[in-house]
Amino acid sequence: LDNGLALTPPMGWMAWQRYRCNIDCDNYPDECISENLFKRMADALVSEGYKDVGYEYVIIDDCWLENKRGANGRLEPDKKRFPNGIKALSDYVHSKGLKFGIYEDYGTKTCAGFPGVIDNMKLDAQTFAEWEVDYVKLDGCYASVFSMDEGYREFGKYLNETGRPMVYSCSLPAYQEERKMQINFTNLAEVCNLWRNYDDIDDSWYSVSTIANYFATKQDLWTQYAGPGHWNDPDMLIIGNFGLSYEQSKAQMSIWAIIAAPLIMSNNLQNMKPEFKEILQNKKILAIDQDPLGIQGRRIYVEKNIETWTRPVTPVAEDKYSYAVAFVSKRTDGRAFPYNVTLSNIGLTNPYGYKFEDLFPDDVSNSRRARILERRHFQR
Ligand code: GLA
Repeated sequence: LDNGLALTPPMGWMAWQRYRCNIDCDNYPDECISENLFKRMADALVSEGYKDVGYEYVIIDDCWLENKRGANGRLEPDKKRFPNGIKALSDYVHSKGLKFGIYEDYGTKTCAGFPGVIDNMKLDAQTFAEWEVDYVKLDGCYASVFSMDEGYREFGKYLNETGRPMVYSCSLPAYQEERKMQINFTNLAEVCNLWRNYDDIDDSWYSVSTIANYFATKQDLWTQYAGPGHWNDPDMLIIGNFGLSYEQSKAQMSIWAIIAAPLIMSNNLQNMKPEFKEILQNKKILAIDQDPLGIQGRRIYVEKNIETWTRPVTPVAEDKYSYAVAFVSKRTDGRAFPYNVTLSNIGLTNPYGYKFEDLFPDDVSNSRRARILERRHFQR
């Protein structure tokens, strides 16, 4: 979507994967979907250094609404959990120098059953603008997949007419993919800043690798539609939760950066082990994700259960790209498996060669790998 936003993949924090639809603030005061949760996460984005490296959107997901619209037909947040209303929360987030995002659904209800926008699109777009929303995730439950291309375009038109710039995150292709429909990516790239291509992420390596694998099998079609202002979205970063080991966390971060994914964390920023925080704040990996060329990378080579993912990035010299390269081992036979791969196998064919830099330099097994690659390169 050519609205001047999301020229690099959006970065931020979103509630869903970690906090789901927990609306029980009596028993779970620190984990329920409430004003308090979003304020604390906004605070932590700043105090824990995430804002400094580029994470900027604080995004409400499902379960913020009252069960019914207000008397004037307007969307209203749950009064108990958002006692000061959404505008006050938006102001708070902005006061921290961050941006504010919200969730709704194109259909009659959100996925968790709260009121959707379908019969009130114009009013709801205006309400979001009044609340000074900067990012809208529009889900696709309780709606006909066949009306979505048109419907998402219509809601986007109303967002645009408010005059307030809002990133527009669309879920429609995930629903169309589920029904094996052919997806109109040209429409998507015109209408949306990012779109969810596939299933919801869960807190497990199985989920991360299933999504990554699906992206790899679809890459010949999907990568061409990614670029500044319009991105494929493999869903949230789950690093720092319960389901990924340290190595698996590095793998999620690396693959997400290679495929130019939005980096929307869903985790507890107030209680993060330092090694996970280090991964999430690795500036060189973030620079790969945020590379200004905006070219989505791909899984280029699989051998011996080791995947090689590459992405063309800046700097570009004499019309040759630099490359981000991620080796993702799916091996199960221990950590020190020696692996050799030639540069030409992974599509790096600049006759002048490449300089090599390890972006996880503190990791011993990685630097060993790095040295191996370097040696092979100089032997050419
Ligand atoms: C769908 C979306 C998720 C989340 C939930 C909320 O499953 O794909 O990302 O927003 O709905 O109910």
